Amino acid sequence: MRTAAPDRMPLDEGIIATVEGASEATEEPIVMYLKISNVSDETASIRSYTLVNASAGVPLPAFSAGSHITVRVTGSIRRQYSLVNTPGSSDHYLISVLRDREGRGGSQWIHENWKVGGIIEADGPANNFKLDESAGRVILIAGGIGITPILSMARRLQQIGSDYHLYYCARSVEETAHYAAIVNSTLCRNVTFIHNKGTKAGRLDVSRLLCDGKEDCHVYVCGPHGLVDAVKSATRGWPPETVHYELFGADPSAIRCREGDSEFTVTIGSTGQSFAVPVGQSILRVLTDNGVKVSKLCEEGYCGSCLTPVVSGKPDHRDSVLTQAERNSGELIALCCSRAESEHLTLDL
Ligand code: FES
Repeated sequence: MRTAAPDRMPLDEGIIATVEGASEATEEPIVMYLKISNVSDETASIRSYTLVNASAGVPLPAFSAGSHITVRVTGSIRRQYSLVNTPGSSDHYLISVLRDREGRGGSQWIHENWKVGGIIEADGPANNFKLDESAGRVILIAGGIGITPILSMARRLQQIGSDYHLYYCARSVEETAHYAAIVNSTLCRNVTFIHNKGTKAGRLDVSRLLCDGKEDCHVYVCGPHGLVDAVKSATRGWPPETVHYELFGADPSAIRCREGDSEFTVTIGSTGQSFAVPVGQSILRVLTDNGVKVSKLCEEGYCGSCLTPVVSGKPDHRDSVLTQAERNSGELIALCCSRAESEHLTLDL
């Protein structure tokens, strides 16, 4: 869904607004023009931005816990950021951006250029990290900037009176984004901070925490690969639908070339065109090189933008987006990183 674009989109002026009224989050991206109404430093490297509809008084599209928006940073650079505030808020979105000096420049650009009063363009909201509100008990685990979707989940669980606890790992109080907001709210009774001061000994003992998983207990983790891997390993015997994780950045071990990889063919269902996908090349690269339009964003298997329905064939999943149940069904494939176990794959494109 696209609304009429404004005449101009400077970063430091208010402009014509364009977000339609509140609606349920949908698979189809909604293009929004948002005004930056507040900027605040959470830590030395994490800054929060409050975004309101550029059209004053018009409610923003609704979102559920774990949702993100995709912001246009500059030129063709786009980045996804989780919504931190309580689901159901229609007057603003809150996002937090970690300035990543080793990254590809998007977060640095935001820190340097996003000012109060500026207008930004964003798609969304969308949700690849949904909260199951029917769980009997929920364990939330966040590491560093991974607090962003997890905090929205905690707020939602608090709102509906669920049994939950949040374990929030950071190096120190000074490096704990949203610390004041948590300790000064009703959430604080259900939050344990783990400030490890950068030491291994101070880390959360995930295997001990999760050793007695109950039938109706769900765990959600978001943070660095080491933390997510520890949770995955500690919950190996849990029903797969009770373990949920979101990574920041690609899982390099998942998307790199593997021994035994072989060439396969991919067919476009609507046209019958077939292309060979050689070892070391992604389906996405082969399709775009041949003029097939496919949506993409991270190109590293963690954003979900390139997920495409599979008509026939067996995917070899290497993304970090699909749940185990979705992988088992074989109905979707992330074109940027996954391959095929079968010799042929037909896509619903
Ligand atoms: S482009 Fe992000 S998962 Fe494929």
